[in-house]
Amino acid sequence: MEKITEEALKEISEVKNQIDLERARLRYLGRKSGVLAKITSEIPKLPPSQRLGIGTKVRKARTQMETAFESATKAAKKVSAEVIDVTAPGIKIEAGSLHPLTKVVEEIKEIFHYLGFTWVDGPEVDTDLYNFQKLNMPPAHPARDVQQTYYLDKELLLRTHTSSMQVRYMETHKPPIRVLFPGRCYRRDMPDSTHLPSFYQVEGLLVDAQATMTDLLGSLEFFAKQFFGESTKIRVYGHHFPYTEPSIEVEVYYPRSGWLEILGAGMVHPAVLRNGHINPNRYRGWAFGMGPDRLAMLKYGIGDIRILYNNDLRFLNQF
Ligand code: DAH
Repeated sequence: MEKITEEALKEISEVKNQIDLERARLRYLGRKSGVLAKITSEIPKLPPSQRLGIGTKVRKARTQMETAFESATKAAKKVSAEVIDVTAPGIKIEAGSLHPLTKVVEEIKEIFHYLGFTWVDGPEVDTDLYNFQKLNMPPAHPARDVQQTYYLDKELLLRTHTSSMQVRYMETHKPPIRVLFPGRCYRRDMPDSTHLPSFYQVEGLLVDAQATMTDLLGSLEFFAKQFFGESTKIRVYGHHFPYTEPSIEVEVYYPRSGWLEILGAGMVHPAVLRNGHINPNRYRGWAFGMGPDRLAMLKYGIGDIRILYNNDLRFLNQF
């Protein structure tokens, strides 16, 4: 019995995988044909005086073997759990993508960069002075009405348009100026499919000795064709903004929806140049303000502006 036990323990210590362990276990401890079962079945043939001794030895051997098999099986299981299963499905790494509005703003920058423009950020909390007064809109000017304003106090407000950056920038930069002011603006509008109290604008400002309306129109047409496609048509008609003279609005033709206004623009009013410490007798400027929300809706066929802001992944995953 001792020899058999020794052999069994040696075998157990050498076998490493679960299948071979199970085979060995059956060979020694199997109920019918295991070595110990066979010995046990021979016991009745022995003379009674020897039966008791051999029975005890068999039990002792069984206990020893069972303990050894148990711990060997545990160890083998642990090893197999650590093995890398190359057929297991991988862990998917979710990559984000740019928000459609971010994409549109980036694209506007890229197109105007081609025409020599750079861009700067500006404060969303600005003063009545820069948002209105220095743009030729003194207190009580009727043009303020369409820009329902969030006032923080008598002086401070949430900018209603990125035009607020025009004079701020002119005060600190000498012509030639070619710059974009992208950013968020705020108006007290009731949310509906085309309005939100917070939206984006990209302002453009050019100041140079030879700036002309023709350059402005050519640049805007270039932009529209780059942004919407080479066959895109624009049309221009007269409008009024207190800070440009003359002022225009520009529409693009979009097969799905017909003519749609996408921006306001014009030649910078001499008073505005003066407010920016630029001599209107030496320099002229043109400016425009466009709405990336509207552009995104047109380009991607989005019917409701609110979809751009509610962070629904089913929508965002499409970009
Ligand atoms: N600020 C105008 C708006 O919010 C857009 C605009 C019109 C900007 C004419 C300009 C401009 O720079 O020249 O509707």
